[in-house]
Amino acid sequence: MTELSTEHFNKLSQQIYLRLGLLFEDKKSYFLQKRVEKRMELLGLDNPQEYVFQLCYADPDGKEMQALANLITTNETYMCREYEQLEAFANCCLPEVLSAKQARGEEKLRIWCAGCSSGEEAYTLAIMLQEIFPQSQFWNCEIVATDIDENMLAQATKGRYWWRSVREVPAEYLDKYFVKEGESYLVRPKATGVVRFQHLNLHDRTAMRNMRNFDFIFCRNVLIYFDDLSRKTAVDHFYNSLNKGGYIYLGHSESIGRISSAFKLKRIEGHLVYAKE
Ligand SMILES: C[S@@+](CC[C@H](N)C(=O)[O-])C[C@H]1O[C@@H](n2cnc3c(N)ncnc32)[C@H](O)[C@@H]1O
Repeated sequence: MTELSTEHFNKLSQQIYLRLGLLFEDKKSYFLQKRVEKRMELLGLDNPQEYVFQLCYADPDGKEMQALANLITTNETYMCREYEQLEAFANCCLPEVLSAKQARGEEKLRIWCAGCSSGEEAYTLAIMLQEIFPQSQFWNCEIVATDIDENMLAQATKGRYWWRSVREVPAEYLDKYFVKEGESYLVRPKATGVVRFQHLNLHDRTAMRNMRNFDFIFCRNVLIYFDDLSRKTAVDHFYNSLNKGGYIYLGHSESIGRISSAFKLKRIEGHLVYAKE
């Protein structure tokens, strides 16, 4: 394929930014070129100009952008990732929210795992919830796990993982929550039962407005691929999606202090968390 010219790259990256909120800087032009080549081959196109036209002007239902999104997202994840932060959630914020609910006679808990990739984070949360709060099985508990990448969601729904994904899972949980089948680990129904996977673009206003009444949002290692503006748009939606008294968790290297003052920043067991008061 002819190399992507600067003009092609600019048009494509602008379109990706507008529709997905993802920032592709110049240094990523080789990466994008390789993904576009794949799409062009499948579509039988020879000239990058034709692809630019198709993506920017002839994609009314968003199918081509979705196909490209499946190729350009970074999906790195594994069970119990950044575990100390999850422990702080399980030791402090989760019990706090649960007791407030119990005091009000509520028996409903909703967690949103935004940018769940192949599902490991959502299942980790399901396991922690059962361990910390076994009564959750009598409550109306739901972990809604969303991602834009259709391939990742298909993998997530299967709940079947290789060692690489479960390597950090404490041995006692590995026996209790996984069935070993050959070289793979299948998540048991007691952890899959509360998780529901859903396709969602964090940059889609209408879809984001439908996400309501969550007690916790985990959006870890996702917003690093956005710029400040698209990050702020997503975070403003998260604010509206959270119940009062709810919390949002980001990845270790991420912060929203600079882009939003709506949340109260708290340090709990050494980890930063954003509260909606
Ligand atoms: C690096 S993974 C993070 C997985 C998990 N949260 C973790 O911390 O291990 C980032 C995920 O964000 C998803 N993502 C990127 N842009 C998105 C968007 N606009 N809408 C929804 N998901 C998006 C990607 O598809 C990818 O699966």
